[in-house]
This record gives sequence, C-alpha cells and structure tokens, in this order.
Amino acid sequence: MEKIPTVGLGTWKASPGEVTEAVKVAIDAGYRHIDCAHLYQNETEVGLGIQYKIKEGVVRREDLFIVSKLWCTYHEPSLVQIACKKSLKSLKLDYLDLYLMHWPMGFQPGEEDLPLDPNGMVKPSDTNFLDTWEAMEDLVIKGLVKDIGVSNFNHEQLERLLNKPDLKIKPVTNQIECHPYLNQKNLISFCKARDVSVTAYRPLGGSREGTDLLNNPTIQRIAEHYGKSCAQILIRFQIQRNLIVIPKSTNPNRIQENIQVFDFELTEDHMDEIMSLDRHLRLVTFPTTENHKDYPFHIDF
Ligand code: A2P
Repeated sequence: MEKIPTVGLGTWKASPGEVTEAVKVAIDAGYRHIDCAHLYQNETEVGLGIQYKIKEGVVRREDLFIVSKLWCTYHEPSLVQIACKKSLKSLKLDYLDLYLMHWPMGFQPGEEDLPLDPNGMVKPSDTNFLDTWEAMEDLVIKGLVKDIGVSNFNHEQLERLLNKPDLKIKPVTNQIECHPYLNQKNLISFCKARDVSVTAYRPLGGSREGTDLLNNPTIQRIAEHYGKSCAQILIRFQIQRNLIVIPKSTNPNRIQENIQVFDFELTEDHMDEIMSLDRHLRLVTFPTTENHKDYPFHIDF
C-alpha cells in the first residue's frame, strides 16, 4: 500500500477556470496529493495542471497521489468501471492512486448528478454499497486504481463493509468532514481501531461559505503564539491527530501557506484546547438525501 501524502490539495468548489493554475502552483509548492471527484466538474482542468507539471519535468506520475471519487449515480456494479474510466480520461491518467466511494448512497442513474423527485428529494437506486464495493475491488484487480476507500461513511456502514464475508480489499481511508467544530473523535477512534486511516475534508470549516473558524478567538490566540496563520493551526491540528488533511484553495499564497505546516508543533495543551471547541457542527449535511436508506448522518457518528 502506498502511503497517502499527509497534506493534499482539495478541489471542491475550485472553478474550472482557476483550478489548472491552482494545481500547478500546488505541485511547485510541494503538494503531491490532489483530491478530485467526478462531482466537482473540474477533473478535465485538474488533469491539465497535472499533465503540465509532468511534461515540464517537475514531477513524475509515480511521485503523485491522485484521488477521485465514484459518484452516487454510478453505484450499479455495471457502471462503476465506466465512471472510473471517465475520471481517468478527464484527468488524463491511466491509473488512480485511490478511488473512493463518494457516499454510501446510490442514486438513480442518468445524466443528472442529483436526480430529484417532485418533492425535491433524491431518487434512490436500489443498489447496496456492498455490491458497489465489489465492483470497486475489480478496479484494483484490473489495475485501473491502486487502492480503494470510502467517504462519508458512518461507523455502522464502515462496520458493515469491514464485516462483508467475502471482502477482498479493505477500505484504506474514510474521508469525512472534520474540523474543530466537528472533531469526529468517536468516528476517528473507530476507524483507527480497525486500521482505516481518516482523511479530513473541510478542515478550515469552508471559510467564507462555512463557519467563522478562521476567526475563532482561541484559534487566533494560538496562531499568534506560534507566529502562524489560523489556517496553518487548523491543518497542523489534524496532522498531529495522524489524519490526512485536504484544505482547498485556489489562491497561490494560501496554497503555499497551507503546506507550510511541518516546521512547528502544537503542545498537548493547545491540542486539548482546540479539541474542546467541538460543537457537533456538520457543514455538509446533504439535506435532499435525508430520505435515503443509506443516509449516513441520522446517527451520531
Ligand atoms: P480560497 O480558495 O480563495 O483560498 P475548506 O478546505 O475547509 O473547504 O476551506 C476552503 C475555503 O477556505 C475556501 O473558501 C478557501 O478560499 C479558503 N482558504 C483556503 N486556505 C486558506 C487560508 N490559508 N486562509 C484563509 N482562507 C483559506
């Protein structure tokens, strides 16, 4: 198993017009891990950035760790390989380092990423994520992806997957929303105990569109103490919990700032203080899917 580089570039909400440049800046700044997804509608432009830096000789393909995700409308086992090949084509790659099941929920297949009924709720498919997983295992066997994992799985869903009687490949990571206002202590302990790594998305709380985490007085005070930015404190916090962390930015200065997090260490007291900020605040709730049998957030963790 390849090691997942600790800090990756998030690309959710990175517009196609700016993400190629963001990827180039990130690779120059030392990022080797790029987190992508079919849903983000920018894989073609991410791929251009990757391709550019490989052609330029800054990195080789094998130095990079590229992640993509299977979207919910492709959960039918017969669609899994089609979805993966679409992402590969857009990214201009012949393999992915990691392919994640984006959500445990399958939606009705079709052109629309979010098929809704007249009440505005998602149209589920009758797939089962254990069958979808088998099709993802086949991608590894076929060499299209090096490894597979999940995202937005609660502990019961992860347990069900790990207990699958004929499981061939274990999920290497569960990628979940994680920041001081939703520190995910219980789900992380659960994953660690089963040797499943955790990847933290929205580590900055989504900034402007999300919360005031970057202006939180405790974070600001700690940032001043180390002479670092609030974002760097939030990223370092996750690194010291042994998580993988994927801050999103398309701003060159902030992209660079977000990986300058290996030259200081938060004390245990500061770590505890940040842990105490938890307020069970989930930013990514996906309300149009609350009717789905596999909606992951009806239980606490
Ligand atoms: P931008 O892309 O303009 O830098 P998250 O990773 O938690 O989803 O947060 C992403 C949000 O935080 C984006 O709005 C991003 O804006 C902003 N952001 C990323 N890095 C920083 C930083 N170092 N300081 C302040 N805001 C940041």
